[in-house]
Amino acid sequence: MALFVLLCLLGHVWNLQVSAAPVNNAFKHPQSAPKFWHISDLHLDPTYHITEDHTKVCFSSKGVPALDPGVFGDFLCDSPYQLILSAFSYMKQADLQPEFIIWTGDSPPHVPKEELSTDVVIDVIANMTHTIRQFFPQLPVYPALGNHDYWPQDQLPTSANAIYDAVAKLWSPWLNPEAVATLQKGGFYSLVIKPGLRLVSLNTNLYYSPNQVTVNMTDPAGQFQWLQETLELSRQKLEKVYVIAHVPIGYLPYAINTTAVRESYNERLVKIFRNYSDVVQGQFYGHTHRDSIMVLLDQQGKPVNSIFVTPAVTPIKSLLEPYSNNPGVRAYLYHPENYGLLDIWQFYLNLTEANLEQKSDWKLEYIMTEAFDIDDIQPHNLHELALRFEQPQSKDFDKYFNHFMVSYNFSLTCEGLCKTIQVCAVHFLDQETYSQCIAKAGI
Ligand SMILES: *[C@@H]1O[C@H](CO)[C@@H](O)[C@H](O)[C@H]1NC(C)=O
Ligand SMILES: *[C@@H]1O[C@H](CO)[C@@H](O)[C@H](O)[C@H]1NC(C)=O
Ligand SMILES: *[C@@H]1O[C@H](CO)[C@@H](O)[C@H](O)[C@H]1NC(C)=O
Ligand SMILES: *[C@@H]1O[C@H](CO)[C@@H](O)[C@H](O)[C@H]1NC(C)=O
Ligand SMILES: *[C@@H]1O[C@H](CO)[C@@H](O)[C@H](O)[C@H]1NC(C)=O
Ligand SMILES: *[C@@H]1O[C@H](CO)[C@@H](O)[C@H](O)[C@H]1NC(C)=O
Ligand SMILES: [Zn+2]
Ligand SMILES: [Zn+2]
Repeated sequence: MALFVLLCLLGHVWNLQVSAAPVNNAFKHPQSAPKFWHISDLHLDPTYHITEDHTKVCFSSKGVPALDPGVFGDFLCDSPYQLILSAFSYMKQADLQPEFIIWTGDSPPHVPKEELSTDVVIDVIANMTHTIRQFFPQLPVYPALGNHDYWPQDQLPTSANAIYDAVAKLWSPWLNPEAVATLQKGGFYSLVIKPGLRLVSLNTNLYYSPNQVTVNMTDPAGQFQWLQETLELSRQKLEKVYVIAHVPIGYLPYAINTTAVRESYNERLVKIFRNYSDVVQGQFYGHTHRDSIMVLLDQQGKPVNSIFVTPAVTPIKSLLEPYSNNPGVRAYLYHPENYGLLDIWQFYLNLTEANLEQKSDWKLEYIMTEAFDIDDIQPHNLHELALRFEQPQSKDFDKYFNHFMVSYNFSLTCEGLCKTIQVCAVHFLDQETYSQCIAKAGI
């Protein structure tokens, strides 16, 4: 069924492509456009198992009874291995002929510090690395470290340590010696992955607010300087750059006036990305577990960069959160010459249904250009979309909010303050313009 729906949609896209006028056609990307997968926040919970006592299903529920545990997981638990296998099996079977995979971190489960250790964290990352490699032995995978990919969580250091060492070894088959060397030292790297395309994998966990190691540091691990030099060199060599990282820049779409990284670091990142917006073709993040977009505006308000936050594979939420996300994975389509981003194909698993039927039926959730009737996912189109979201009773915004939760519950709505902070976060990434946006809404 999933394949059928997908083929129909692809057929639809393809027909328009071949039959309609080549300009101003909403679906001008043939399915043959090159693609890559983006996966994030796998959060494997090896303790997950079905048992009568729902408080004992998974350590990640922290003693709270699981809601409706099934083979593929529970909304109060991190991922069972089965769920992760089902995601990779689907990606393999969908056979989109991807060029590579980006993987934006967070493999270990959300459990108290005492349940983990440096060795356990390394074991979980190794497990996920080997599992991905078993499924996609021929495909390069470009990982970024997450705030959970360390012990104790969030406290990623600014110099070599057992975990940077371990991941440098684990990921070396996908990287080159220079990338392995900087990964081992600071948890970040860059390498050319296609002719004229450089991937930059940042360790934004160094900027994450709960990281006590980097408090008061102006340039943790020298990453800002390295990033600037890397982008400067790319500009000189006429390269394009994809930036991947775990913790995103900008404001959180579900909390008022809150950046994910410390505010001063966010300001600095925004300045750098404005400066090099001609070089950076896309930014890809995880960490929030939700599906969201941001569009970076320059100081004149012109959209200059497209930013994507991919939803998690783990469906976990805390007891008091009103909603979660269904497990998701996505593919991006890009232009084969200039690497400009064309589209997103977002896939998901209806966890409730999968558990009921004891069968994982991953499906296409939406195609970005089709869902919002835009030509591609370049900055000016995302900006135009963000302006539509601002309108009262915007159907486009309602759809965006359903996607935000990966179709978790269509009955949930986002209005008033909820909508204001979502919409302000989409196109205001620095303190000055974000605060103006919030003030304008009269909050
Ligand atoms: C990963 O962990 C799972 C669950 O604990 C286990 O069943 C599986 O064999 C491990 N796989 C690898 C490749 O280490
Ligand atoms: C950071 O700087 C503040 C203000 O100068 C100071 O009070 C605080 O002790 C410093 N924290 C650390 C961990 O150095
Ligand atoms: C902006 O770019 C210029 C020229 O490439 C460079 O000299 C400057 O340091 C950059 N500033 C930032 C904040 O990236
Ligand atoms: C997921 O499955 C449940 C149970 O079959 C169903 O009630 C719900 O509408 C489905 N959600 C979506 C987005 O299809
Ligand atoms: C979906 O949201 C509605 C409205 O808040 C709520 O009444 C309902 O219980 C939710 N359904 C699920 C499955 O969480
Ligand atoms: C957001 O927080 C910053 C300080 O962190 C403050 O200067 C600014 O006024 C706040 N903006 C709003 C709209 O509350
Ligand atoms: Zn996470
Ligand atoms: Zn995270």
